[in-house]
Formats: sequence, structure tokens, C-alpha cells
Amino acid sequence: MLTTYAIPTSAHKTLDALVDKVEANPGRMVDPAEIADLKGTMDVRATMDQLPEGLSEDDFTGILKLAMLTECATDSYATAIQERSDTYDTPWLGRFNQNVWVPDERCHADPYREMFLTLGYSEAELDAEILETQEREYIHRSGDTPVHITTFGMIQEYLTDNWHGLIADLLKSSSPAASHIANRIKQRETLHTIWYRDMTALQVEANPHLIQHVGEALVGFRMPGQELLPALQNRVPGWLPSMNANFDLMTKDLVRHIHGSLGDSLHNSGELLVSIAAERDMKLGPVHPSHLRKALNRLGGPGYGLIGEALLMKVGLDRLYQAPTESASGPTAAVHRRVEQIRSVFRGWIADRMNVEVGYEGY
Ligand SMILES: [Fe+2]
Ligand SMILES: [Fe+2]
Repeated sequence: MLTTYAIPTSAHKTLDALVDKVEANPGRMVDPAEIADLKGTMDVRATMDQLPEGLSEDDFTGILKLAMLTECATDSYATAIQERSDTYDTPWLGRFNQNVWVPDERCHADPYREMFLTLGYSEAELDAEILETQEREYIHRSGDTPVHITTFGMIQEYLTDNWHGLIADLLKSSSPAASHIANRIKQRETLHTIWYRDMTALQVEANPHLIQHVGEALVGFRMPGQELLPALQNRVPGWLPSMNANFDLMTKDLVRHIHGSLGDSLHNSGELLVSIAAERDMKLGPVHPSHLRKALNRLGGPGYGLIGEALLMKVGLDRLYQAPTESASGPTAAVHRRVEQIRSVFRGWIADRMNVEVGYEGY
């Protein structure tokens, strides 16, 4: 764990204040009482009897099992996060991890355990499987610095949010109580995504060099399930289409979160994309990304903003950048309009050549 990481003391204070706020107002966590209230109602047999085309009973139990078993290993992930918070001396991250995230995640596996009981599984076999997963060694491979962790956290929480949401949809008409609790868990994952996004944004704002780390965390991203439950996790790409996953929306959401984690800065998003492209040897156009990066750096970087705009345009998030208003008149307005026309031609040209790959293979 030796990658450089530094942010000014003032930024640590801002991050401490953010965690204070989250600790003071974490929202309504899923708690044992809420699950107890639903006990006996989370029957998923009806869903099992009328699965959508493409999903077998074995797929269905695999889907629920992945949710239960990845959720039950909270302590393993928490240890990995804590070690990194200690190494880089970022108490705000440790505090968020221990005081908010761990208690919040604590009950997420339990409703799925209840669902398996309705399918005839015994408590003993479920508990043995849970224990076995908890005892497996979790090796965190998506980067070590706090900004790597918060970037990883943001993506991981988003994909988990999406997973509980897809399950809730699957259960909706035939097992409404089970669907309700899956949605409740989803709501918590949404908050986790936002909190990690904000923590990333504050670090990047304090030290823009950390964009490189964000890029590294994205390129090296691995779902925890790939470490702990590879056989189940590898089946996810095959399940997603039958679960009605909306890949365009997922890509759009991910780009929106990443853009937000860079302070909604077009320049930063452009820089991130170029740095990822350079790292992956991926072409963004006719020029090799490492040459493109050199040229953009020499120009002082206004071109990065254009690449950022093109990225948002490519995934349908044009609304996140503002074109100059057309209402002004006079010669200056005419020049602005002309510049905007040229900008939009370039933006379109870059977007056409840009191949935004968001790999869901690992998800
Ligand atoms: Fe969770
Ligand atoms: Fe979470």
C-alpha cells in the first residue's frame, strides 16, 4: 500500500465535517425490528412458480444467494477499508466505515435468509453457507488509497443498489413483501453511493492529481463477489437480460456518478477519460491517447472540457452541460454562437469516435 496520497489538512476537516453530518443523519436503516415485522410474509414460492422466460429455478435461487452471501460478508469488507484508513491516516473514512456503513449493512443479508426459509431451506444449511462465506479471505484488489476506496465504494454500492432493485422488480407482483424489503435495502445502497461519491469529490477537489487514482480504481474495479463467490458472480451477465436490466440506463447512471465524483467538472471528466484510455491503450480517436494527453496538457487543457462534454453527450447526459443562451443579440452574441457551433461540431466528432465501454462482465 504505497501509492501516493495527500490532501491538505483543510480537506481532512471538510471530510470530517461531512462524516459528522452523515453520522448525525444517516436516514432510516434497515433494522431487525423491521425484518421481524415482515417475518412470515416474505414468501417467494409464488415468484419461483412463475419465473420470467430465461430464468430457471436454479437461476432464481442463485440470484437470491448472491445477494444474501455478498451482503453477509460486511465484516470482511469493513476490515479491508479500516486497514486502508489506518495506513493513510484518514480517520473520517474509518469513522464512516465503523459508525455508519457497518451498522447500516448489518441486516442486509437477513431478509434473503428468510426468503430461503420459505423455499424449504433449513436454518442449519443457510447458516453454514453464510459462515463459510464470512470466513473466506477477502482480498481487496481495487486500489488502496482512500480515494481508491471511495471510488470503489461508489461503483460497488451503485451496482449493489441496482442488483437489489432488479430483485425487487422480479418479486414485485407475486411476492410483494419480499419485494418491499429488497427495495428498502436498495434505498440504503443509493445513499451509500451518494456518500462515497461526495467523499470522492471532496478529495479530488482538494487535490486534482487524484483523478489518476480515480481512473485506476475504475479500471481495476472488481465486485467483492468476484473474490468471494466467483462461481455465482460469473453467472450475473447471463442473468441480467432476463432480469430486464437496462444497460443504457446503468451506463448513464455510472457516468453521472463518476462525473459527480469529479465535482461535475467537464475538464475533470475529460481528463479522467483520457487517462483511462491511455492506461488501457484504448483509442479515443485517430490519435493515441498518450499523445492526446501530452497535446492537451501542453494546451493548458481546455480540450479536456470538450472531451468531457463529448462523454456526457455519448451517454445521453447532454443536459449536464450548459450551452450558451441564444437570446443575446449583437456582434458578441454572433461570435459566441459561432464558437458554440464549432464546439458542438467537435463535440459530436469526438463523441462519434468515442467507444465508451462500461464492462458489466464482472458484475
Ligand atoms: Fe448492503
Ligand atoms: Fe451498501
